[in-house]
Amino acid sequence: MKAVEIKPDIYWVGAIDWGVRDFHGYITQNGTTYNNYLINDKDITLIDTVKHDFYSVTIENIRSIIDPSRIVNLVINHIEPDHASAIDAIMRLIPNATIYITERGKKGLDRYFDTSQWTFKIVKTGDTLNTGKYNLLFLETPMLHWPDSMVTYVKEAKLLISQDAFGQHIATAARFDDEFVECASLFELEDAVVDYYANILMPFGQLIKGKIADIVKLGLEIDMIAPDHGIIWRKDPNKIIQMYLDMAEGKAGLKVAIVYDTMWHSTEYMTIPLMQGIKDEGVDCKVIKLRATPMSVAIKEFWKSRGCLIGTPTINNVMFPSVSEFLYHLGGLRPKNRIIGAFGSYGWGGGAVKEAYDALKRMGLEVVEPGIQVQYKPSVEDEQKCYEFGREFAKKVKEYHEKLGK
Ligand code: FEO
Repeated sequence: MKAVEIKPDIYWVGAIDWGVRDFHGYITQNGTTYNNYLINDKDITLIDTVKHDFYSVTIENIRSIIDPSRIVNLVINHIEPDHASAIDAIMRLIPNATIYITERGKKGLDRYFDTSQWTFKIVKTGDTLNTGKYNLLFLETPMLHWPDSMVTYVKEAKLLISQDAFGQHIATAARFDDEFVECASLFELEDAVVDYYANILMPFGQLIKGKIADIVKLGLEIDMIAPDHGIIWRKDPNKIIQMYLDMAEGKAGLKVAIVYDTMWHSTEYMTIPLMQGIKDEGVDCKVIKLRATPMSVAIKEFWKSRGCLIGTPTINNVMFPSVSEFLYHLGGLRPKNRIIGAFGSYGWGGGAVKEAYDALKRMGLEVVEPGIQVQYKPSVEDEQKCYEFGREFAKKVKEYHEKLGK
């Protein structure tokens, strides 16, 4: 691998992780990249490091441009270990470098490493660093998505180095959006953006809107956005900004995700007429069996859809474990602007569908009640009821979608 020049004397020097499939529980079926950037200016500056496993990869990439020991500034936009865990190895190479970091970033690094011999410059929004021909502007982005987070704007290059924001988990030989679309597809790229947003950034929609508004207010000209994961946006950076604004508003497609699990297929049998009823109302529908689908994929499909039906059998008077886990995780992501209902089968006492509704109400979502339940296996009459319920639910999804105007 080699460094890739993204702007005059500014290089991608990161690493491609083709093999990672479990990113702290988030399933990365397409791997990821850990992007970091070298500014080969009078004062050579490295922006972010990489995951420690890829230390030698980034060092060799840097070495293809300069001797790494010549780096004098290290900017740390984010301390999460996928970006900062190589820092101690790198600091052994450049012990006299100055680390530019937020106050909370420094406090976090102090917990991960022995930083006593390192030189820090604590920065806040509006602080700058001149490296020679380039001027860097730091903008704090707390809780996007960690307290320490910030982004770095390179003024003369009109380049926003955005850490996790605008990233995607894709391992690819393409470094840029246009390259990726040419060798893969725009759908894959957009799907990866939604996947990342849904699983990492969903809770922070209001903060994202506010931070993008701040950037607009500052009048920063941006013609390239370089995140810390995935491809770099050079063809149309406004596209990814607009996607983020839409997702922060809770925008979704006119479709329904049926997310379910099943014991002896009864709840599963219910999904068929439900799906048919939804489809016959002209609404697209995707059916997701939880034990056959990684959690992060189920979350993404939920987020892409305006409506969702949760299907669960009753076991020991409560929800099936995988459904319970899904709703528990979903609640933490604080979804909004979604309309949702529940269905399921039971043998004798029931209880799971009520419990699902309780969880959905706690999330503050638009809830369609009552749901639909069948005892043991759905009869022909039950299947007809499911079909009608699917149609009615789809009508409500269309009304709600219309009401939201998106
Ligand atoms: Fe890619 Fe928040 O680390």
